[in-house]
Amino acid sequence: MSESDRHDAWDAGEAYARYMGRWSRLVAPRFLDWLDVGAGASWVDVGSGTGALTGAIVERCAPRSVVGIEPSAGFLAVARARVSDPAVRFEQGDARALPLADGSADLVVSGLVLNFVPDPKAALAEAVRVVRPGGTVAFYVWDYPGGGMGIMRAFWTAAIALDPGAADLGEDRRFPDCRPEKLAAMAEAAGLEAVRTDAIEALTVFPDFDDYWQPFTLGAGPAPGYCAKLPAEAREALRARLDADLPRNEGGAIVLTARAWAVRGVRGEVCR
Ligand SMILES: C[S@@+](CC[C@H](N)C(=O)[O-])C[C@H]1O[C@@H](n2cnc3c(N)ncnc32)[C@H](O)[C@@H]1O
Repeated sequence: MSESDRHDAWDAGEAYARYMGRWSRLVAPRFLDWLDVGAGASWVDVGSGTGALTGAIVERCAPRSVVGIEPSAGFLAVARARVSDPAVRFEQGDARALPLADGSADLVVSGLVLNFVPDPKAALAEAVRVVRPGGTVAFYVWDYPGGGMGIMRAFWTAAIALDPGAADLGEDRRFPDCRPEKLAAMAEAAGLEAVRTDAIEALTVFPDFDDYWQPFTLGAGPAPGYCAKLPAEAREALRARLDADLPRNEGGAIVLTARAWAVRGVRGEVCR
C-alpha cells in the first residue's frame, strides 16, 4: 500500500486539532503527571503537531526550555499561534534526524507520533542521542491494536463493514507494534535503561453525534483522510451506520474510552 493510499494527511492544523488534538490535549497532562518532572528542565517534543504536549509542558512543568520539532508547516503555524511562551520554540524537522546537538536536553518526549515515523528505531536512536546521559526519553502512542482508542475503533468497524477494502487502512493493522511489551523492547534496544510502561486513559465525550462525526469530514489524520475521500453516497452510508451503531448514555452523549501506552526510560551515563 502506498503512503498516499494511507491518507495520513498531516497538513491541516485546525482540522487535526478538531479531530484528535482535543483528545491529545486530555492525554498530555496525564502523561506529564506520570513522568513527574521538576521545574527548570530542558525539553524536546518530537512531532509536536499543533502543540498539545508542548503547551501542557509549559502549563505544568515550568520548563527552562522546550523545542518542538515538527515536519508539517501547517501544524507548526497552529502550534506557534497557540503556544507563544518565550521558553518555547518550534522548528521544522524530522524525528529521524533531529536538528539538535548531542546530549542537549534533559528530556526528549513525543506524543502520539512514533507509529507514524517510517523508521521508529531511527527516531528512538535520535532521541537517545539528543538527551543527556541520565536524562529521560518518554513517549506515548494510542493503543490501536488493543482497540483502546474507541473513537477510531468505532469508525473503522463501521467503515470496514461497508467497505472491506478499508481493513488495511485501520490503525490496528497498520500499527501492530503499539503494545506495551513491543514498545518496551524497542526502548531497551535503543539503549534506554529502567524502562517502564503504563496505560494512560481518558474519556472522550461527544455531546451529540455531529460532534463525533464532523471532524472525520475534515480530512486530517488517517480515518478523516479516508472519510473525506469517499464519494458522497458512501460517506453518507458510513455516517448513517455510525449514527445507528454508536452507544449513547442517558443524556444522549457518546462516551468512549481513549487509552494510550506510555513508555519511559533513562539514558545510561555511558554511551553505547
Ligand atoms: C497524531 S499527531 C500528534 C501531534 C502532537 N504530538 C499531539 O500530541 O497532538 C502525529 C504527529 O506526528 C508528526 N510526524 C509524522 N511523521 C513524523 C516524522 N517523521 N518526524 C516527526 N514528526 C512526524 C505529524 O506531522 C503529526 O504532527
